[in-house]
Amino acid sequence: MHHFRFSSKLSAAIRLGVTLFAGAWIQCALGGSQPAALRCENLVNPLGLAELQPRFSWEMQSSERAESQTAWQIIAASSPDLLARDTGDLWDSGKVAGDETTGIEYSGQPLQSNEHCYWKVRLWDRDGNPSAWSAPAMWSMGLLQPGDWKAEWIGFDAPRQQMAAAGMVPTKTNDVLYPPVRLRTTFSVAKKIKHATLYATALGWFDAHVNGARVNDTFFDPGWTDYTRRVYYRAYDVTELLRPGANALGVEVADGWYSGYIGWGHKRDHYGTKPRVRMQLHLEYADGSQEDVGTGPDWKAATGPVLDADILKGENYDARMEKPGWDTAKFDGRNWAAVDTGAEMSPLVQPHPGPPVRVIQEFKAQTITEPSPGVYVLNLGQNFAGVARLKIRGEPGQKITLRFAERLSSDGNVYTTNLRTATATDTYICRGGGTETWMPRFTFHGFQYIEVTGLKHKPEPDAVVGLALSSDTPVASDFDCDDAMLNRLHKNIYWTQRANFIDIPTDCPQRDERLGWMGDAQIYCRAATLNTDAQAFYTKWLVDVEDAQRADGEFPKVAPLKVAGDDGGPAWADAGVICPWTVYEVYGDRRELERHYASMCRFIEFCRDRSTPDMLPPAKYHCYGDWLNIKAPTPSNVICTAYFAYSTHLTARAAEVLGKTDDAAKWNALFEQIKAAFNQAYVSPDGVIQGDTQCGYVLALAFDLLDADKAAMAATNLARNIAARDGHLSTGFVGTKDLMLALAKIGRNDLALQLIHNDTYPSWGFSIKQGATSIWERWDGWTPDKGFQDPKMNSFAHYSFGAVYQWMVENLGGIRTDGPAYKHIIIAPVFDEKLGHARVTYHSVHGEIESAWERTPAGLKLRVVVPPNTTAKVAIPAASVESITESGKPLAKAVGVTSAKLDGDRVWIEIGSGEYLFAR
Ligand code: BGC
Repeated sequence: MHHFRFSSKLSAAIRLGVTLFAGAWIQCALGGSQPAALRCENLVNPLGLAELQPRFSWEMQSSERAESQTAWQIIAASSPDLLARDTGDLWDSGKVAGDETTGIEYSGQPLQSNEHCYWKVRLWDRDGNPSAWSAPAMWSMGLLQPGDWKAEWIGFDAPRQQMAAAGMVPTKTNDVLYPPVRLRTTFSVAKKIKHATLYATALGWFDAHVNGARVNDTFFDPGWTDYTRRVYYRAYDVTELLRPGANALGVEVADGWYSGYIGWGHKRDHYGTKPRVRMQLHLEYADGSQEDVGTGPDWKAATGPVLDADILKGENYDARMEKPGWDTAKFDGRNWAAVDTGAEMSPLVQPHPGPPVRVIQEFKAQTITEPSPGVYVLNLGQNFAGVARLKIRGEPGQKITLRFAERLSSDGNVYTTNLRTATATDTYICRGGGTETWMPRFTFHGFQYIEVTGLKHKPEPDAVVGLALSSDTPVASDFDCDDAMLNRLHKNIYWTQRANFIDIPTDCPQRDERLGWMGDAQIYCRAATLNTDAQAFYTKWLVDVEDAQRADGEFPKVAPLKVAGDDGGPAWADAGVICPWTVYEVYGDRRELERHYASMCRFIEFCRDRSTPDMLPPAKYHCYGDWLNIKAPTPSNVICTAYFAYSTHLTARAAEVLGKTDDAAKWNALFEQIKAAFNQAYVSPDGVIQGDTQCGYVLALAFDLLDADKAAMAATNLARNIAARDGHLSTGFVGTKDLMLALAKIGRNDLALQLIHNDTYPSWGFSIKQGATSIWERWDGWTPDKGFQDPKMNSFAHYSFGAVYQWMVENLGGIRTDGPAYKHIIIAPVFDEKLGHARVTYHSVHGEIESAWERTPAGLKLRVVVPPNTTAKVAIPAASVESITESGKPLAKAVGVTSAKLDGDRVWIEIGSGEYLFAR
């Protein structure tokens, strides 16, 4: 028999034996397990929450194999001391049976505004042994009641008004840029402070200062939302920055997304013309009393050294105009002007649910060239989004100009034509005397190259450094194999994600666009979750998506909704369903699904109501088609019906997860109806799908729109189509998303491998051969024959084609989730003949998963790591169960292996958590 299954008694005995053998008596008593990586609302020690039942999560750690959690206990306390004494005055859950480690809702004492809460967790392992308590973690509550905000919106409109009076008014062709403004106040502290929390928000971007120190080292706070509806605040613990006596609060406010340029065609002031800030310092004294210091009419205003700043246009800074100490109490601000109060709108003010944007990496120049005298071009080796930091010595008044580009022209100069109206130019005017360092705070660029002019000599290596900015989502994955091109592809995908995660998922970080394009977002969402932990990031953006939903249920082209229209059309609008579902699938986040379920339904109803009676598309509707395909347009109707079916299917699944049985039946029935219409209208008896494009076949196969016989024919047609293109793809954004996954699904990973290894046009490898360090918007962004594609639309940092990372993780590494949240894992690598080894790691909500395989003279080796409290099924091609060993032992003797079974040409091995070394 090629099949065995351990009885649970036997495996328990083996576990016990191993524990004894390891001499781990004490560990055994404590269970050998530990909760770690504590998070609250999917963030580490978040401040200023408004969730009245914040959710907790942790990861189980254990040195034992096949370990799992059988119970947990959380205690939450109002002080670290109480917590240390195991006193949960806020909440003591008691011992709760269960294996869940995510999404556990607080259900203790009602939480109050400004409350600081401390918590820890312990767990019981599968043998019922309790762990020690985890290290403590904390969270704080924000301003929960509308009345808690006593601070007023303030700003300083005079600079802009004066420019308008002087005739400097923005027009459709003429850019006008404004200076950020500075606002300040002083206050005194008479008593000992227990906690000082600064709450800050802006219609615009803020940089908050306390007593001369910058409070937020993050960028672009408080992020981009539909400011007419809601704006987010951030909370900062500033206890250490305050002192007895006189203190000062200062803030700089820039236009940002609120009133700066964004999108194409010289468009600014999208929400208003009067940037505002609202800050409130909440002081909790040791004697229990409280006090608030907030923005109001008594604050004073001035401009500073930033002459102007804009997302698209860049920042101009005159260091001679610096006012050292402007944000301290000693500064004499008597001649500063009065502030303006009141805002142009009254949005809800809520805590930001996602991570902030910060510097995630520095890049130094790999080469510095001088294409013409005094023009220095730095190659940073990586295309990314961010800013440059200067460290130079100059004469007073000496002006340094920085220009940014993703590529070089053939003459070695920076190529900026594809930036369109984004002038992306920063200037720094030196103070003189000594070393000066500077980085802009109120702009960002997408670039690999920096052109520096105005220096008197070639820059030193640290004179101009690139700082990569991104929403600070924790890295979740690593990819490595012995094909440098594939490694580069992973890097390119990773960096293109980083460059486009700037508070919202954008299409591109460089040209005059930078919008939350819905199509791109849904296409790339799943891959994004594999590169970084994007749960909190999407939690935030999904609100933007719902805020942008049209009254009739249609989702827009972009969210937040600006510049492009409110009719997304097939594969763009569908982000409103696909993204919440993906967040559920990857993180098991039921609450997000619940929150967006009604809006998902409204969208399905919209699609249904505009369809013909037999559920085919209406006569007229907007559709981008398979955007940027290669001379293989897929009929809009095919895409429209396929996506309608897919989103309906996902909404049915969401209904099932949420226990809405009637809804599930309704949406499943609708799915069947759409599927029938699809077959009736577009599928020929020989399985040719109207248009005969790769994209058409891919959608039908990926979305399960065909019955078995038609699916088999469509699979053959897809393979024929690829062969007819000499083994190349022809898909655009829509088709590429599922192309490789569909090939894997139909058992044609041989074709997927061919596509991934191609380096001729069109392919991922082609761009890498042309030196790409990021994912291009177009397959032919630059070619040796034609040079640059149409500069009207040619970004070198668009992530859609990077969706292939999902296939790479799920096939080259073989790591897949079996059901939601990687609780059950499948590890079934494709042992690509062209590779000698491949290693993929993915940090799931349950912990680190690893799949690393290697061909050795002795045979195939596969190292697998599965986190505690999960199980996995591992597939290894083999002729028999007996031909596989684990750590040198037959599978039947391997600890943690619960079954092994030959199925066709593969052996499926079921394992519990731990590290395993399989050999064949
Ligand atoms: C954006 C895309 C977007 C497309 C839709 C472009 O301008 O950059 O990424 O999906 O428009 O047509």
